[in-house]
Amino acid sequence: MAAKHYAVQPRNTLNQINGYIAAKTIESVKRELGLVKIIKLAGNENTNGYSPHVTEVLKNSLEDISYYPDMNCTVLREKLAKLHKVDPEELVFGNGSFELISILAQTFLNEEDESIIMEPSFGWYKNVTLQMGAKIITVPLEHFKVNLESAKKHITDRTKIVWLCNPNNPTGTIVTEQELRHFLMDLPSNILLVLDEAYVDYVAETGYPNSIGLLREYDNVILLRTFSKAYGLASLRIGYGIANKQIINSLNKVRNPINTNALAQIAASASLEDQEFRAYVLENNKRGLELYYETLSELRLEYVPSNCNFILFNVGVDSEELAREYLKRGIIIRAGKEFGLATWVRISIGTYEENELVLNILKDLIGRRGI
Ligand SMILES: Cc1ncc(COP(=O)(O)O)c(C=O)c1O
Repeated sequence: MAAKHYAVQPRNTLNQINGYIAAKTIESVKRELGLVKIIKLAGNENTNGYSPHVTEVLKNSLEDISYYPDMNCTVLREKLAKLHKVDPEELVFGNGSFELISILAQTFLNEEDESIIMEPSFGWYKNVTLQMGAKIITVPLEHFKVNLESAKKHITDRTKIVWLCNPNNPTGTIVTEQELRHFLMDLPSNILLVLDEAYVDYVAETGYPNSIGLLREYDNVILLRTFSKAYGLASLRIGYGIANKQIINSLNKVRNPINTNALAQIAASASLEDQEFRAYVLENNKRGLELYYETLSELRLEYVPSNCNFILFNVGVDSEELAREYLKRGIIIRAGKEFGLATWVRISIGTYEENELVLNILKDLIGRRGI
C-alpha cells in the first residue's frame, strides 16, 4: 500500500533526522518473545538498582504528587552546590541530561553554526544539532580515543559548540586533564565546550580532568552530570549542568520551568546521602570489568579498557546476529553497527551473576564459534 501523504509538514531541517535508536525495553522484549525474565544490558543503566534510602523517601513523598514540584530544586540544588563547592546559581537541572543537551542546542545553535561531534559518541548531540538546522562536523576517534588535537583542526569561525563526552560512550575511553587543558587554551572563548560527564563516577584511569576546577578558569565550559548511572535513577529522569551564571541564565530562558518532577528531586537528594551504596556500585563495576577483561583475553577477543559501566569489544562476527542470539536467551545487548563498528558489541556491566551469565553465553557462542 502506498504511504499516505500528509499535508502538514514538519520544519525542513527535521527531514535530515533519523529517529534516535533507543535500546529495546524490557517490557517490549518480554512481549515480543514471550519471556518472563529479561536482563537489559543495552542502555548502561544500573542493574544494582538504587539506594534503599530512596525507597524510604519515595514512600513518604507520594502525597506530594498532586502538587507541582519545586521548580527551583531547592534542596537538591543546595546539596549539590555544597558537594561541588559551586554557587547554587551555577546549577541547572534537567529531565535527564538528554533534556539538558536539547536545551543547550536550543539556547546556543543558530542555523549557520557548526557543532563539533566526536565519532562514535553519544548519539543525541547529532540529533539536537540537526533539530536546530545547524551543521554537524564529525571528528573520528583514533584508536577508540578522542583526539582533541584533531578536533582543534576542525574549528572554524562558525563553530559554536564542541560536544565532548568524557568518558566517551560507547568506547569508555577518557581525555586527560593535560589534553583538555591544551585544547581549552586554544579554544576561542565564544565557543562552548559541553563536557558530558554522565559516567564520571566510574573513571578508573589516572589523569582524568578536575573539570569543576576548569570551570573556574574557563567561562565557555558547561559540565553535565546525571543521576541515571551510578545512582540508578534512570527512570526518574534527572540530571544537572554546572556552568557560570550567564550560561545558566540563558539556559533558563529555554528550559521548561517545571522540568524535573518532585519524586526525582527527592530521590536524587536521598541518593547523595548514601555514598555507601555508590561505593558498592563502583566496586561491583570494577569486579565486573575485571571478569570481562579476563574472559575476553582468554577468548582472544579485542576489547577497549573501560572507564564506564559498559564495555566495548570485538566479537569478530556480525554483532547484530550475536545480539539476536542473546535476545533469544532473554538478554538485551547493543550491537555496534550503529556506532560504525559492525563486529563489536557494547554491553553494560551488570551484577556479578549477570556478567557471568553473559560471558558463559559468549564462551558458548564465540569460544566454540557457535555462530
Ligand atoms: C554520554 C551520555 N550522556 C547523556 C545520557 C543521558 O542520560 P540521562 O539519563 O541523564 O538523560 C546518556 C545516556 O545513556 C549518555 O550515555
